[in-house]
Parts: sequence; structure tokens; C-alpha cells
Amino acid sequence: MKIFIDTANISELKKAVDIGICEGCTTNPTLILKEGKDYKKTLKEICSIIKGPVSAETVSLNAEGMVKEGKEFAKIAKNIVVKVPMTQEGMKACRLLTNAGIKVNTTLVFSANQALLAAKAGTYLVSPFIGRLDDIGQTGMDLIREIKQIYTNYGIKTQILVASVRNPIHVKEAALIGADIATIPFKVYEQLFQHSLTDKGIKLFLDDWDKLQKELKK
Ligand code: G3P
Repeated sequence: MKIFIDTANISELKKAVDIGICEGCTTNPTLILKEGKDYKKTLKEICSIIKGPVSAETVSLNAEGMVKEGKEFAKIAKNIVVKVPMTQEGMKACRLLTNAGIKVNTTLVFSANQALLAAKAGTYLVSPFIGRLDDIGQTGMDLIREIKQIYTNYGIKTQILVASVRNPIHVKEAALIGADIATIPFKVYEQLFQHSLTDKGIKLFLDDWDKLQKELKK
């Protein structure tokens, strides 16, 4: 499973790229609002840092507007993937953008049928939002299982990008199901590295190393 970072924050992205585990990035209007910067300039900067797919979200409600925005985004860099919402207009735009050679990420997917339709519209990535389903008392991860099953049944090539990830358990379950990608907020990304026994183990080894140095000096 590929690890993408769900952020528009340049310093978070740089940290992840520096670690060497960051295979793509997803952005949306909420994430860009947090940064308070120009969207296109930010996308350009992100694309200069990350080689993998970088998702840029359209805000038009009709297909024509989405296609126009998408084509503008696609000019920024080769690795741009255009996000369109899972609506009838969004799927119309998805087909048009895909036919024009521009990769699409269908976002705001909350049902298996929506994921099936997005695949039929030619979407490159499909983004089921699991955390938001958990928020309303449904089990978001069940949706990933269903989409995986349907895509496997029909040999569908669309990649499942698990979005609205809120904790490390979401990441582990997505990987166990066999999702293609998880897009992860930086806070959760950092949590993935941590384990109290790792910290305890490092302390013990360092303490023993110090003891050894003292004994050798005797
Ligand atoms: O990229 C979109 C998605 O990850 C949103 O997450 O936490 O706002 O539901 P959240």
C-alpha cells in the first residue's frame, strides 16, 4: 500500500520526503484554507517536492467548470491528478478529463455503488472517506472491503485511495484489506513510527552502551 500525505503544508511534506516515505500527496480546499496561500502556487511547490501523484481539487459544480479547472491544474506539473466530486456532473467531467489524458481522483465517495460508477467513468483514483463514515456511526472500513471486492470481481484497475484517515488503526486495516493507497494526515503519519517499546528498547540499549564504556575505562 502506498503512503500519501493528506496536507497542503510544505514543511510537513518536506519532513516526510526527507524521511523517504511519501509516495504522493492529496489536497483539498479545507487543507489549503489552513495554509492561507494561493492554491496553484502551493500545488507547484508541492509538485517540485514530490514525484508521485499530487491531487488538486476542483470547486465548480458543473462538468464544464471542472474540466476547465482540471485542465489548468494539469498545466502545473505532470504528476497532478484532478479531484472531482462524486456527482453526475463530476462523473461527466471525469470521463472528459480522462479522455483528454488527465488523471482523475473521484472524491467524496461514501458508497460502493459510487465507487463502481467512478471506475466506469474512468477514474484513476477513487477516494472513499472512511473517517467521516465513522463519524456518523457507520464502519468506514467496511466500505473499503466492499470496494476492494467489487474491483477484484471485475478486474477494475482504478486504485482505491483510503481518505479521511484519522488514526493508525485505519492505516493498518486499509493495508490488511489491500487498499492501493492511504492518504494520511501528518499527525497520524508520525504516530505510525511510534511504539513505547521501541523508545524503551532504545533507552535500555543506550544505558547498557554507556555502562560498557565505563567498564572498559576501568
Ligand atoms: O483528502 C480528503 C480527506 O482526507 C478529508 O479528511 O478528516 O476532513 O474527513 P477529513
